Amino acid sequence: MSAQSPVRPVLPPEIRARKGAAPLVVLTAYTTPVARLADPHCDVLLVGDSLGMVLHGLPSTLGVTMEMMILHGRAVVRGAEKAMVVIDMPFGSYEESPEQAFRNAARLISETGATSVKLEGGAHMADTIAFLTARGVPVMAHIGLTPQSVNTLGGYKVVGRDAEAEKVVEDARAVEAAGAYAVVLEKVPEGLAARVTQNLAIPTIGIGAGVHCDGQVLVVDDMLGLFTDFRPKFVKRFGELGQAADAAIAAYATEVRTRAFPGPEHSFPDVPKAKS
Ligand code: KIV
Repeated sequence: MSAQSPVRPVLPPEIRARKGAAPLVVLTAYTTPVARLADPHCDVLLVGDSLGMVLHGLPSTLGVTMEMMILHGRAVVRGAEKAMVVIDMPFGSYEESPEQAFRNAARLISETGATSVKLEGGAHMADTIAFLTARGVPVMAHIGLTPQSVNTLGGYKVVGRDAEAEKVVEDARAVEAAGAYAVVLEKVPEGLAARVTQNLAIPTIGIGAGVHCDGQVLVVDDMLGLFTDFRPKFVKRFGELGQAADAAIAAYATEVRTRAFPGPEHSFPDVPKAKS
């Protein structure tokens, strides 16, 4: 038996307590192998509804279903040991009423083993956030650019310039007061994100919101160079796995066509070699 204590996943109160400390590292994950790769390096693995676009080829996150989230959520939980798994509530699963949100949040958590849900929306979702947190569902909020509202926002635009800035500040205050333990700030100007971060007691996790947030999140397929359909300014490519995969698949195709693959080392002889 090992003398080491078993690995224990991070929990929402520890994430909340990281306010103003070392930046939180958050990355999306949708599969067991990627969760295993990311787990040792990350505080939080987010099963984002971005999976609809980067894995399933959908034009937006609006077509993502509870069933898709549950399937990928289970896979990520299987691959996570120490990082906290947060799962997105898909479009249409929580906006109608706090009761609808609780029913679907409970399903996401009980059927996947994720620790927390994330949902989009500021002040107008405060009652729902309070309803969920009072009933044992930790909530990560998401304000600024909320991709599930792409049609009403009129595109994936920066949110919070000029008059809109006060609305972002109000949304941040409202989700904190409602009981969210952290808030994602998406595509918000960096000065405004710094102001929100200073004004809140819960951590802000930025994506396209500058360096002053309490943590950062990126979509894993974006930062690895696997999803290349479009590239927002805030995506830094930390790898070019798409190019590497293209070269590897092209080499495989050439070797199959030229019969260079499989070689003897990948084939089984008719008579096994005698043991010496
Ligand atoms: O769906 C997602 O991946 C997200 C992050 C971009 C924050 O919500």
